[in-house]
Amino acid sequence: MIVGLPKEIKNNENRVALTPGGVFELTKRNHTVYVQSDAGTNSGFPDEKYIDAGATILSTIEEVYAIADMIVKVKEPIEEEYSLAKEGQILFTYFHFASSEKLTEAMIASKSVCIAYETVEGPNRSLPLLTPMSEVAGRMAIQQGAKYLEKPVQGKGILLGGVPGVRPGKILILGGGVVGTQAAKMAAGMGALVTILDINVDRLRYLNDILPNNVITEFSNEYNIREHIKTADLIVGGVLIPGAKAPNLITRDMLKDMQSGTVLVDVAVDQGGCIETTKPTTHENPTYIIDEVVHYCVANMPGAVPYTSTIALTNVTLPYVLQIANKGWERACDENKGLSKGVNIVNGEIILKEISEAFAV
Ligand SMILES: NC(=O)c1ccc[n+]([C@@H]2O[C@H](COP(=O)([O-])OP(=O)(O)OC[C@H]3O[C@@H](n4cnc5c(N)ncnc54)[C@H](O)[C@@H]3O)[C@@H](O)[C@H]2O)c1
Repeated sequence: MIVGLPKEIKNNENRVALTPGGVFELTKRNHTVYVQSDAGTNSGFPDEKYIDAGATILSTIEEVYAIADMIVKVKEPIEEEYSLAKEGQILFTYFHFASSEKLTEAMIASKSVCIAYETVEGPNRSLPLLTPMSEVAGRMAIQQGAKYLEKPVQGKGILLGGVPGVRPGKILILGGGVVGTQAAKMAAGMGALVTILDINVDRLRYLNDILPNNVITEFSNEYNIREHIKTADLIVGGVLIPGAKAPNLITRDMLKDMQSGTVLVDVAVDQGGCIETTKPTTHENPTYIIDEVVHYCVANMPGAVPYTSTIALTNVTLPYVLQIANKGWERACDENKGLSKGVNIVNGEIILKEISEAFAV
């Protein structure tokens, strides 16, 4: 199969969909790989590494789309890319169709085969191609939170780990899923006092078993949240109700109960956020302040650490890329039901019913 690897052109997206190692796995199986010049540079992979792995470099995105049977990407195509996708061409990337009718219509019109990372399923209905980005964002939430607790950026002026004779920072984590667990691990390692709230008691039981003693688990309800926010230095939002908007666990009126300089990192911003005052921000302008509370709500946190994110993403996507390249998408999906859940739109027809429901088309 001819595989194309374009450079991501969405604002501040520095990841790339295949590492040179991933390209090598394809070329050694006699697939042909075309890589757009500079596609991997921001992730730490210069063109020469792809050439060494057996790829051919093309200068423009148009050339990559024109020649490839399968395009492997990271982010959904943006408007400039709509017209590049062609009939029968496989596009394997994050799409998030339900949040964009325009993209959905464009991909219907292209008659391409759209296989979305975010709906590929693993065992127990898990979403294996979403997990690594939640791991990155969860760990990063503490790194960012620690930074914005510093006084020059209007934080409380607290060092998360404290020092001998001075208390460490208090961290409240809403949601003990992938984001919450990874955030808790980082925070605990820094010596902070961590509380995780979740509504799933089995999950709390598990977290209580595996996390160190400076992490406390509690049931998530309004009373407990109202108590904790009075003294928390850093609050991380990692709640998810699959397919739905995140619930507003912290409402606007609660901000006045927080201390000045408290930092909120709402990782769940991509699902609307679990804090009422959350609105999406970018890496250029990551924070804003309401009622003296610092809000960090970057919607694509992993984009800031492209080296880590690219490798974490390609670790999980590559086995699927190889299956599709080796067998063609139809046989690959017949033989792997989890992969078949990723098929969203084929030849102008919406396959995934959630997309039709979102737009009633
Ligand atoms: N901003 C970013 O760059 C970025 C990156 C990755 C993931 N995310 C987002 O982070 C969010 C969390 O992702 P995840 O992979 O950790 O999800 P997850 O499904 O692993 O975990 C969500 C957890 O929330 C819990 N929960 C549900 N309702 C709750 C409530 N009322 N109170 C407390 N806990 C509750 C669930 O029981 C579950 O344990 C998602 O919205 C995801 O899209 C954002």
